[in-house]
Amino acid sequence: MKRALITGVTGQDGSYLAEFLIGKGYDVHGVIRRSSVDYRERIAHLEGHEHFHLHYGDMSDTLSMVQTVRAVQPHEIYNLAAQSHVQVSFDAPEYTANVDATGVLRILEAVRQCGLEKQCRIYQASTSELYGRVEQVPQNENTPFHPYSPYAVAKLYGYWIVKEYREAYGMFCSNGILFNHESERRGETFVTRKITLAAARISQGHQEKLYLGNLSSLRDWGYAKDYVECMWLILQYNEPDDFVIATGQQHSVRDFCQLAFHHAGIELEWRGQGPDEKGVCIAVNSSLPSAINLIGKTLVEVSPDFYRPTDVVNLLGDPTKAQQLLGWNPEKTSFEKLVELMVESDMAKVASDHAAAKVRCNLAEYLEKGIVK
Ligand code: NAP
Ligand code: GDD
Repeated sequence: MKRALITGVTGQDGSYLAEFLIGKGYDVHGVIRRSSVDYRERIAHLEGHEHFHLHYGDMSDTLSMVQTVRAVQPHEIYNLAAQSHVQVSFDAPEYTANVDATGVLRILEAVRQCGLEKQCRIYQASTSELYGRVEQVPQNENTPFHPYSPYAVAKLYGYWIVKEYREAYGMFCSNGILFNHESERRGETFVTRKITLAAARISQGHQEKLYLGNLSSLRDWGYAKDYVECMWLILQYNEPDDFVIATGQQHSVRDFCQLAFHHAGIELEWRGQGPDEKGVCIAVNSSLPSAINLIGKTLVEVSPDFYRPTDVVNLLGDPTKAQQLLGWNPEKTSFEKLVELMVESDMAKVASDHAAAKVRCNLAEYLEKGIVK
């Protein structure tokens, strides 16, 4: 039975990858950080599975990386752990470098120190952010990099140290240069999930307005579940190599927002320009509760709080190499389907969170009135 070690197993991609690899018959080991709360939402359903094991470790702690690699003796490592939020990297640049740059080196060295460099294949979660202030559209494996945030600069080190260990020590280590990929499990401060949650809350009367930054930013958005399959395919290829993983389709933040609100039953019209641009509700679906009167209201506004000191605004990937060499299908889940899946999931989540909160509220009232003891 093959053993896989996943760093970042509690994240969006790590959780889908763990499910995927268990399905392929792997014994899956994940690295988790010690935290004061013990509930790991994205992998809670896997805990207790006979082929799913967790190990404490931190990308900033060499010893824990060496100990984990020694204990697991993995055939494959998927290095997904990172401080993955671009905007946060401007506030925490040193920490981001420690985890996203030096952390990659720690994994590679741990494999060497444990004498596993011939047995163990390593996947590095590289990123389209490397193209940054883009020098070519669309971007492929030969497009020059121009990182444009502390996050991207840290990831550039990760990309190159992987190539260096491949060439210097003959190790099987590969970069997946993944373009943005989203899902129902996406962190709530990334723009897509922030939008789908807000659309769900606004349509159910629990939020007034959504504030966003650059509405014109363009991204190549795919579905995370499809992308984790490609991580695995990259390590099954007959030699280590670097691959762009993308859909080849591009949309703006504004497009995403328009479609997400549409799926939540709200039609938006965009008025104004730049920081004064607003999304105004011009129609609602008849399924929305009649008490929620949204027509004519401004539901989306721009806030400079979400502008970045340097922003990457034109990402579009060319996945031809992955299609031809790995047989990966970039068209499995369309942009329209992705938005629909995310909104559907958040509509249900908001409704059930609200129902649970109502039960808690009623209970507090009943306790106060002595109706329940
Ligand atoms: P995510 O949801 O933010 O997950 C990040 C994971 O890294 C979490 O499990 C987190 O653990 C873990 N982590 C963070 N700092 C750590 C540390 N110091 N030690 C150990 N673990 C640590 O990210 P994602 O979207 O799944 O992305 C996975 C990887 O792909 C990241 O490296 C990201 O930079 C890269 N990437 C993502 C995309 C995308 O669009 N999603 C595109 C290109 C590349 P906690 O749960 O404890 O915080
Ligand atoms: N987060 C966020 N919040 N972004 C906003 C907002 C907002 O309110 N308003 C506009 N944006 C714009 C950002 O300026 C950026 O241009 C774009 O939306 C996407 O932002 P994010 O969703 O935060 O993702 P990202 O592209 O910066 O980074 C993600 O994708 C990278 C791959 O290209 C992360 O997953 C990275 O880890 C990953 O490497």
